[in-house]
Amino acid sequence: MSKILVTSALPYANGDIHIGHLVEYIQSDIFVRYLKISGENAVYMCASDTHGTPIEINARKQGISPEEMVARFNERHFQDFTGFQIHFDRFYTTHSEETRVHAENIFNKLNKNGLIEIKEVEQYYCDHDKRFLPDRFVKGTCPKCGAEDQYGDNCEKCGATYDTVDVKHPRCSLCGNPPALKNSTHYFVLLEKARDIIEKWVNDKTHLHSEVQAWLTSNFLSGELRPWDISRDSPYFGFKIPGEEDKFFYVWMDAPVGYIGTTQKYCDENGLDFNDYWSKESDTKIFHIIGKDITYFHTLFWPAMLAYGEYKMPHRVHIHGFLTVNGEKMSKSRGTSVKASTYLEFLDPQYLRFYYASKLGPTMDDIDLNLEEFRLRVNAELVNKIANLASRSMGIINKKLNSVTGTTDPECSSIVEDAKSRVESISRYYGNFEFSKAIREICIIAENANRYLQDTEPFRYTSSDPEKARRIITSALGLLKGITILIGPVLPEFKKTVEKMLGAPHSWTFRDLDFILPPDIKLGNFERLIERVDEKNIEAMIAKTKEAAPSVQIPLTPLKDEIAFDDFQKIDLRAGKIIDAQLVKGAGKLLQLTVDIGIEKRNVFAGIKAHFSPEELIGKTVVVCVNLKPRKMKFGISEAMVLACEDPSGHLGLLVPQSGDKGFYPGSQIS
Ligand code: MSP
Ligand code: ZN
Repeated sequence: MSKILVTSALPYANGDIHIGHLVEYIQSDIFVRYLKISGENAVYMCASDTHGTPIEINARKQGISPEEMVARFNERHFQDFTGFQIHFDRFYTTHSEETRVHAENIFNKLNKNGLIEIKEVEQYYCDHDKRFLPDRFVKGTCPKCGAEDQYGDNCEKCGATYDTVDVKHPRCSLCGNPPALKNSTHYFVLLEKARDIIEKWVNDKTHLHSEVQAWLTSNFLSGELRPWDISRDSPYFGFKIPGEEDKFFYVWMDAPVGYIGTTQKYCDENGLDFNDYWSKESDTKIFHIIGKDITYFHTLFWPAMLAYGEYKMPHRVHIHGFLTVNGEKMSKSRGTSVKASTYLEFLDPQYLRFYYASKLGPTMDDIDLNLEEFRLRVNAELVNKIANLASRSMGIINKKLNSVTGTTDPECSSIVEDAKSRVESISRYYGNFEFSKAIREICIIAENANRYLQDTEPFRYTSSDPEKARRIITSALGLLKGITILIGPVLPEFKKTVEKMLGAPHSWTFRDLDFILPPDIKLGNFERLIERVDEKNIEAMIAKTKEAAPSVQIPLTPLKDEIAFDDFQKIDLRAGKIIDAQLVKGAGKLLQLTVDIGIEKRNVFAGIKAHFSPEELIGKTVVVCVNLKPRKMKFGISEAMVLACEDPSGHLGLLVPQSGDKGFYPGSQIS
């Protein structure tokens, strides 16, 4: 039998798992459990993604080594996943010898085939922090739409992507200083040379959903595939590039190789043949399950890396959308970016597994966790339909019928037939990531079973005709058994408990699903399966998340000495309107402003070039100190001072006086 290898994206060992991540890991876990219960030889591999600049910087900030930090998060993530009943066959780390060896192998083979080019590139370098600033560590004004405070690789306002050196008014995101350009040699993968391989892989319908194919074709494959920069200068936490001292593989070069490294570790530990999974000739089907934000790493670079590295290419990359909560992006201040561990303090993980399953489809559409719907649906379907079927029938047979099953009720056979007829499509829905449809079908079977119990009223016969009551309950429990097997991938703990209660042999699979319990089985005692969702617990979870929202911690300058009121009165502050703003040739930091202060116009040199473009300043009314002694500078005389203040990211903002809708006239005194 051919093998199946399933992976989820490797979570960054740089922060806690939240309910957004869980969309992916719960989904993957359901898929793998479905495969296993269908008798497939499936394994589920995952690991911590450990490398990169953010991890190096965060570790440094906390005064620990990056190794220590990733070890801590690896442990915490594993605990969170276990809490949500997510079971990996191996959860490892990319900071491993196995991953290093395979990453180097891929790099060497790309190199041998002429796909690596070494080039000098100019990059921003922060003299203060003594490091090159990769994409996200530069902030500035979007070169396309002019939105301020955007990351160095793309604009959140207009969605444009661009080269970091094209960003206007760049600043180092760590210290706020403007960076300078500096040369460095970098390694590039010449993706265009792999175009045939990539196109062939992308265009095979089994590999990707058609909407992803279309997106890749129009956004990437229709133009030149740009060389991909896979190197980073030190300081960096990662694998050294062979033959280099101070250069490392970019995290995305080794991160997906973690899928391979983890499988290697798993095989070594279990005496299995690694080549069965990853060699080019293997017939293993590899499924990668990822979020839409990392599509292009997995569908362009990765197939090329695997092809040249002579590994098995993925059978399918399944891509899901993002989680929103109550229709909005998760937010700390609204208390909706709930950590996995916080959720577990207040709520049963099975609620979330069930709810996500009931919402998930095969496309990249975002899924919304509506907290009101969450409570109502879990209570109405999981508790009232599925769990109650168990408590009602077990209650009667435990209390009145010595916990022993009988023959089945012929009256129930049409319900059993209907249930059986749904198994094949439920199975197909699971296999195609159409979980919401699977859940809907299972709920229909549960509804029918409940109606059967309601209509037949077995409690009325427990004394007068106990064998009749036994037949009815046995039939209802047969339906429960089938429902439990079908929902098993979603609710593994629930399944375990029901199996124990039903006292049946536990090699239940989808294939021989008969919805019938044999006679004369001694059943176990009823155990509580699942409580109703209590609104109070949801509220408490949100409140705790809100509380934990970090307040911004900025080292503040100490307070200055006390001054007399007269001293303060000496300062002449006015509203001034900036009527012109110009770059100053040869001045790195300065802008030249013309400020109308009513009585006259003043020439001002302000050291704010890194933070504003001239255009955005013109027309603004700001606060100006007008009686400072004029200062002679290299470029001219500065005749006033514009007041500014720093925001939490070190970005300067100008003080803009505000009053209703009238504004202030230039020269208006500030007192
Ligand atoms: N480390 C990379 C993946 C490397 S794979 C070789 C990464 N890590 S992550 O921790 O940021 O995200 C892990 C997975 O969770 C990604 O697939 C990502 O799309 C998914 N999600 C993160 N936030 C999410 C939501 N809010 N909603 C749904 N999925 C989300 O990316
Ligand atoms: Zn800096």
